Amino acid sequence: MSDNQVEKDAVSGVETTGHEWDGIKELNNPAPRWWLGVLLISIIWSIGYWVVYPAWPTLSGDGERGGTKGSFGWTQYSQLKESQAEIVARKAAYLDRFNAASFDQIKTDEELYAFAVAGGASAFKDNCATCHGTGGTGSAGYPNLLDDDWLWGGDVNTIHETIRAGVRANHDETRFSEMPAFGEMLSGQEISHISDYVLSFSSGAAYDGEGKDLFEMQCASCHGEDGKGIRDFGAPNLADAIWFYGGTKGDIMSQIRQPQHGVMPAWEARLSESTIRQLAIYVHSLGGGEE
Ligand code: HEC
Ligand code: HEC
Repeated sequence: MSDNQVEKDAVSGVETTGHEWDGIKELNNPAPRWWLGVLLISIIWSIGYWVVYPAWPTLSGDGERGGTKGSFGWTQYSQLKESQAEIVARKAAYLDRFNAASFDQIKTDEELYAFAVAGGASAFKDNCATCHGTGGTGSAGYPNLLDDDWLWGGDVNTIHETIRAGVRANHDETRFSEMPAFGEMLSGQEISHISDYVLSFSSGAAYDGEGKDLFEMQCASCHGEDGKGIRDFGAPNLADAIWFYGGTKGDIMSQIRQPQHGVMPAWEARLSESTIRQLAIYVHSLGGGEE
């Protein structure tokens, strides 16, 4: 077949391009009009786009991020800045309202309450989770903040004060109390009797021994005659089977001999008053909050 001879497909009568693969030949159909139209529109669109948006790198590397600037002056950075400014402004509007409102007002304002709980939750993760656990569940020596067993009290003002000034912390107004070490004052026998009596509070078993009198003499001033604890002293409830330092007889004897004392840092100097208030509302919301 010579060069100027066009081959036609026998079935459709359309010219072929001369390309052939294993007997399959390519027809030389023109591109469809709609397709050409879309191509042209895209080309025109792209030219417009190059003019108004940053598009081409410049040879010198000058210009906005080393390229043409675009007549709109748009950049991803300015877009980010704008949306961040919007978030900050929205947050600031809440923050002003939040800071001016009392705990009672916040409780009845759904929006402010949600704002406080969200802010408190994120501050909790950053500052408190190391000791109290991510969800506030606590661990040995660090109280669970989800239950309704409170050392110092579970209403929102009391929680706020505990967070602000801490417990046995380096703060002038910190909460403070110290269980005396009875290891030298009482005999091993006596400590064992008292421990049996302490365990009888939560087991409900009848107790009739020396431990009762000893407890009332030595311990009731802080833990109460019924063992239910006194919050003014941060003295835990010994009758609820929730143990801070362990609930075996050995754990209790050890606490009586040589007591452990938890330290909760004071947060006043480290966090803003607003953050501390958000934290108080968050902790109060965890489930054990009291009126
Ligand atoms: C270094 C460890 C540590 C960190 C960090 C910590 N806490 Fe505590 N927290 C404790 C200990 C220990 C206690 C128990 C104090 C006691 O023995 O009375 C406690 C007690 C509390 C109580 C009182 C519970 C009750 O039963 O009355 C609250 C409320 C509390 N923490 C909230 C927080 C918040 C909110 C944060 C973060 C801003 C935080 N804690 C950070 C160790 C910590
Ligand atoms: C001056 C007040 C005071 C006296 C008196 C006192 N305690 Fe305590 N006790 C405390 C405080 C405060 C704590 C909590 C320590 C902490 O928060 O770290 C505590 C903790 C305990 C615990 C640990 C509770 C737990 O959940 O793990 C036991 C058990 C206990 N006391 C038993 C006794 C017994 C028994 C006596 C009498 C022999 C006694 N206490 C006398 C203040 C006192």
